[in-house]
Amino acid sequence: MSDDRLILALDLPDALAGLEMANRLGDTVNFYKIGLGMLTGGGLALANELKDEHGKRIFLDMKLFDIGATIEAAVRGIARFNHDFLTVHGDPYVVRAAAEGRGGADTKILAVTILTSLDRADMDDACIKDGSPADLVVERATRALEAGADGVICSPHEAALVRALPEAEGRLIVTPGVRPAGGDAGDQKRVMTPAEAVADGADHIVVGRPIWRADDPVAAAKAIITELNSPQAHTPNR
Ligand code: C5P
Repeated sequence: MSDDRLILALDLPDALAGLEMANRLGDTVNFYKIGLGMLTGGGLALANELKDEHGKRIFLDMKLFDIGATIEAAVRGIARFNHDFLTVHGDPYVVRAAAEGRGGADTKILAVTILTSLDRADMDDACIKDGSPADLVVERATRALEAGADGVICSPHEAALVRALPEAEGRLIVTPGVRPAGGDAGDQKRVMTPAEAVADGADHIVVGRPIWRADDPVAAAKAIITELNSPQAHTPNR
C-alpha cells in the first residue's frame, strides 16, 4: 500500500536516521523529500541510495536562488542524477535558468512561490511589495509557470486559486502545511487535511513529523493514504 501523492519530508537529524526511517516504512511510502537540513549532512548520498537501491522517488528541496548562470550550473550538476523534483525560488529568471540547466533530464522544476511561514509583517521586513500573501502567491505562481516551471509549491490554502490559473493546466501543485484530520498542527499555523488539499487541486502533499515522529510511522502513513482515497478527497472544494 503506497500512494505517490504522499511525499514524506525526511527531516531527520542525519542520513543514517533517514535511511532507518525509510527502511521502517518499507513499501508504505514511495516518495521522499530531502531538504536542506539533511542535504548538508549526507542527504544527497541518501537521496541517491533511496532512488537507485530502493526504487524510491525523490524530491530534492534545495530552494535554489542565485544569479542565472549559477542556477543553471547548479541544476545541470544535480540533474544528472535524475531525481523527480527539485525546488528553486519562483523568480522568473531563476526558473528559466533552472529549466535550461535541467536540459533533457526528467527532473521537474518546482517553483517556491512565497514561503508559507511568512506573514505580511515578514514580507514588509523583506521589502516585498504590498498585497495579501494569497494574491502574491498567485502572481508569483503565474509568472513562474509562464517562465517554464513544471509546478509550484504553495500552501494548501492557495492550492485552489493556483489550480484555477490557465497557466497551471497540466502543471503540478505540491503543498506542505498538511495535517491529518484530528492531528496536532504543531508549528504549522495554516494547515489543511490531506483530503482537503487534494480536493483543492494539490497533486502531492508533503507531510513530515506526523509520520516520522509517530510511535507507529507505518500506521500514520497508512492513515494518510486512506484519507487521500476517501470520498472527501474526490470532492472538489472549488
Ligand atoms: O513536519 P512537517 O509536516 O511540518 O514538514 C513539512 C515539510 O515541508 C518540512 O520539510 C518543511 O521544511 C517543508 N515546508 C513547510 N512549510 C513551507 C515550506 C516547506 O513546512 N511553507
